[in-house]
Amino acid sequence: MSTSEDVCRKDLKVIHGCPLTYAFVLNWEKIEEFQSRPGDIVVTTYPKSGTTWLSEIVDMVLNDGNVEKCKRDVITSKVPMLELSVPGLRKSGVELLKTTPSPRIIKTHLPIALLPKSFWENKCKMIYLARNGKDVAVSYYHFDLMNNLQPFPGTWEEYLEKFLAGNVAYGSWFDHVKSWWEKREGYPLIYLCYEDLKQNPKKEIKKIASFLDKTLDEETLDRIIHHTSFEMMKENPLVNYTHLPTAIMDHSKSPFMRKGVVGDWKNYFTVAQNEKFDAIYKKKLSGTTLEFCTDIQST
Ligand code: A3P
Repeated sequence: MSTSEDVCRKDLKVIHGCPLTYAFVLNWEKIEEFQSRPGDIVVTTYPKSGTTWLSEIVDMVLNDGNVEKCKRDVITSKVPMLELSVPGLRKSGVELLKTTPSPRIIKTHLPIALLPKSFWENKCKMIYLARNGKDVAVSYYHFDLMNNLQPFPGTWEEYLEKFLAGNVAYGSWFDHVKSWWEKREGYPLIYLCYEDLKQNPKKEIKKIASFLDKTLDEETLDRIIHHTSFEMMKENPLVNYTHLPTAIMDHSKSPFMRKGVVGDWKNYFTVAQNEKFDAIYKKKLSGTTLEFCTDIQST
């Protein structure tokens, strides 16, 4: 029987061609066989794209902006992560979801090919949040410094090479954002961008509400925007991940709620690294209508 220490700083494990966090694949068949319920709402992202932010927004929307109801539990229990499993620490995502009342909000970072079939069969509503890859790389680097379930990232230079090659947990950012974009047709799936949410939260939250068949008045929308602002979430112990043991997430290395801005990549990318990223982006995402914003004025 392994313990949480046995799974720390381990190499990634490849499942069906996709590198995944070692701890999460120990019971992979339970994830593959996972049975969804028709009313499940899936919050799906590539890591570090604002998943926690979107999760709290969806919970607020479903609870009509009632802050007290949204304080009922920590984010990892309110919005279980499907593939999460840390031996000896707590219930796995799959275990937790068995006892979660409907409508369940389920978080996942899985690429399309690895998402349990049951979600497609039940036509569960899915909200995909994408973030520009340069900021994702910087955020992921800092996350891997503080999250002991991930392999040690090395230097920024070394890490970026791995990121660009897709040798990080959940594989290539380029493939992830592209394949989810192409899946939009024919499924109840909305595709949102972190940068739009940052620039015009009201517009994006209205889209989410309408997708979830909710009508919210202006006052409620403003309350949701305030409660889910970066400043509020950074100080909220129910959502800022300080509830996890330091052995798993060490916030002294880098806080989970780090900066929450668009364009921080400019503080890390050299000119050569930026050119390399752009060349791969052009090659991998040519032919799609997907566009990312890497800089906005209001942050
Ligand atoms: P940074 O590291 O760039 O600050 P995820 O939840 O998918 O792991 O994403 C984490 C990233 O989202 C972190 O980015 C975090 O600071 C940012 N984030 C979390 N809550 C946010 C909020 N309310 N507004 C904006 N960004 C937020």
